[in-house]
Amino acid sequence: MQLILLGPPGSGKGTLAADLEQLYEIPHISTGDIFRRNIREKTALGQEAETYIDSGALVPDALTITMVADRLEQDDCKRGFLLDGFPRTIVQADALARLNALQDKPLTAVLNLIVRDETILKRLSGRRMCPRCGRGYNIHSQKPRAAGICDDCQVTLVQRADDKEETILKRLQTYKEQTEPLIAYYRERGLLIDADNEGTIEACFQTVRQLLDDRLGRA
Ligand code: AP5
Repeated sequence: MQLILLGPPGSGKGTLAADLEQLYEIPHISTGDIFRRNIREKTALGQEAETYIDSGALVPDALTITMVADRLEQDDCKRGFLLDGFPRTIVQADALARLNALQDKPLTAVLNLIVRDETILKRLSGRRMCPRCGRGYNIHSQKPRAAGICDDCQVTLVQRADDKEETILKRLQTYKEQTEPLIAYYRERGLLIDADNEGTIEACFQTVRQLLDDRLGRA
């Protein structure tokens, strides 16, 4: 199965991907996570991406497409893949369609996660993460056992650098200008599935699971 999760910042792509990855046994490929890992490890790619990410802008297409093309060539993608946060522009979507990885395994579906801006602001301002293991938490919906401390590493949780309110607003604007056109792009190609992602994490997962079962013709 070759899936894309499309949706604004904070719509729940990463959260849903963690469950879908287990359900379908396909690798979850988050371009945001790959960039953040490169930033932590201070690679050349990380240094180039950091200024764009911290300002709420997109990393240039050429850099991002090369990175995803390399990732999709890896062995674990032979079973399929779940793309989270890619493509984000029409240029990226056209490039994806031309990649080798898609030639013998076309896209199965593009899930379009629909969430109101107020919900996004609440979710993103409440998000916390472990600086050591990267595990995500939320002060509203995914609380750690002890407030502010990672359950696994026992270190103090932090906010993502781009989760400051002004950067969240910029990311939303970037999404509307550069990524939203992909909704029409994939709808025209018969691949889009709209999914209301306003409910609880479990309810959203069950909704998406049902939508995908319907698309795949499963009981
Ligand atoms: P990326 O990391 O992809 O950020 P994003 O798209 O802004 O998405 P987020 O990770 O913020 O949110 P999400 O939708 O995954 O929601 P989550 O599940 O975490 O990209 C970061 C940056 O990298 C970009 O701004 C850009 O600069 C660059 N970049 C990445 N890809 C690129 C590309 N292709 N091209 C160019 N540049 C690129 O949920 C958010 C919070 O809400 C969590 O705390 C979660 O616990 C909570 N939550 C989730 N679902 C629910 C629910 N149903 N109920 C209650 N709480 C929930």
